[in-house]
Amino acid sequence: MGSEKTIAIVLAAGQGTRMRSPIPKMLMPLAERPMVSWAVSAALEAEVDECVVVVGHARERVEAELASRFGDRVRTALQPEQRGTGDAVRCALEAIPETDGRVLIYYGDCPVVTPGVIRRLLDAAEGAELALLVSSLAEPKGYGRILRDAEGNVVGIREERDCSPEERAITEVNPGFYAVDLRFLRDAVRALSSDNAQNELYLTDVVAQAAARGRVRDVHASFELLRGVNDRYELALAEAILLRRTREALMRSGVSMRNPDSIFVSADSVVEPGAELGAGVELRGRSCVRSGAIIDAGSILTDVEVGEGARVLPYTVATKSVIGPRAQVGPFAHLREKTELGPESKIGNFTETKKTVVGARSKVNHLSYVGDGVIGEDVNVGAGTIFCNYDGVKKHTTVLEDGVFIGSDSQLVAPVRVGKGAYVASGTTVTRDVPADALALSRTKQENKEGFASRLRSQRKAQKG
Ligand code: UD1
Ligand code: CA
Repeated sequence: MGSEKTIAIVLAAGQGTRMRSPIPKMLMPLAERPMVSWAVSAALEAEVDECVVVVGHARERVEAELASRFGDRVRTALQPEQRGTGDAVRCALEAIPETDGRVLIYYGDCPVVTPGVIRRLLDAAEGAELALLVSSLAEPKGYGRILRDAEGNVVGIREERDCSPEERAITEVNPGFYAVDLRFLRDAVRALSSDNAQNELYLTDVVAQAAARGRVRDVHASFELLRGVNDRYELALAEAILLRRTREALMRSGVSMRNPDSIFVSADSVVEPGAELGAGVELRGRSCVRSGAIIDAGSILTDVEVGEGARVLPYTVATKSVIGPRAQVGPFAHLREKTELGPESKIGNFTETKKTVVGARSKVNHLSYVGDGVIGEDVNVGAGTIFCNYDGVKKHTTVLEDGVFIGSDSQLVAPVRVGKGAYVASGTTVTRDVPADALALSRTKQENKEGFASRLRSQRKAQKG
């Protein structure tokens, strides 16, 4: 870039009718980040001097998203009525002082654009009135077509709806990225007319004006870097591109992935080098997987931190929880919000936890419900134990102090505390606190009736016959 100032204008005022979605198009998520934010990040990372986003439809929500993510690095300009991309740029120019400089213009529905391709465009624009990116597409449907003269110079762009049959057959398309001299742009936008199939002011008509004054520079770039998103199919294709990039970067940094195409990593999740992700794993929200941790097949973690060397076995579902270093969870475990597992602790199959702290090396290995619990260190909770935390109105806490042993099939009716090192016999319903080192036992004494079974069987046989 020369000494001239570069201002990015990102157009994001349109409604996105083709999405048929209650969520405004610009806020539709890709890898859980809104479309407009992906688009704007690329300009900021390409180090433009300023960024102006044109807003209109769902203006408040789009502005709130931009403000929360980018703060004062982004300004907005209002387009009161959506009268076309040319009109949107006119609105942006009203918010930009009348100086020399260059503007980079593109559309907010292009979330896959990279800073690299933007830089290429800006470099090509050096000294020219207008430069634009072009792409080749076997199926150019929906895109404006690039018109060239006999020498191969770009002379204009024709929107598909305004194309003749011959023009429609052109496979070179306009992905919608322009670098334009600011003073030229002001005049050019004033001269736009809405004499076209959509009765709109087309930004694309600026290209013919630049061509009439001199050569337009065009830069060929892969469509993978530029694709637009107009419907939910294209949204899925664009998301796939972004996810593929995330996975590639992670694998190159030292993360292992089995069947990488099946793995989802949200934009705000982090995976440290040395971690491993199995097939079909989804890291949602702001999840973090530390070095040496293994997340096995089909596990879905939302806002979960997984400590160093921890193992999450297949088909675990966890939300808003912390899994401590070298802890083991699953297979088929369900960690609900505010579960905090200490180092080397274990949560086994078909166990559900919620709002529970589990101390170091403690185990809840099989078929249990552990809610509103405080579990100390080296505790063993036997198979089929239930923390009865809800009395129909309020939730209550169960405390198991260090070294406690809970026999299988026990119930702990909260609020209740089991003291340090105490035992709870299998099948016990604990309704009162258990002192340290005691044994709690609430089942009735066992009675064996000798020969009872065979007597019963012959009785039944006689009744039948
Ligand atoms: C546009 C281009 C087309 C190009 C394609 C690339 C024009 C006239 N056509 O078509 O040549 O191949 O993008 O993706 O520019 N917007 C506003 N205000 C408006 C209208 C649109 O801010 O009044 C915004 C939209 O929010 C959207 C972008 O501009 O982000 C593009 O609008 P859209 O209607 O999607 O244009 P396309 O038909 O895709
Ligand atoms: Ca579009």
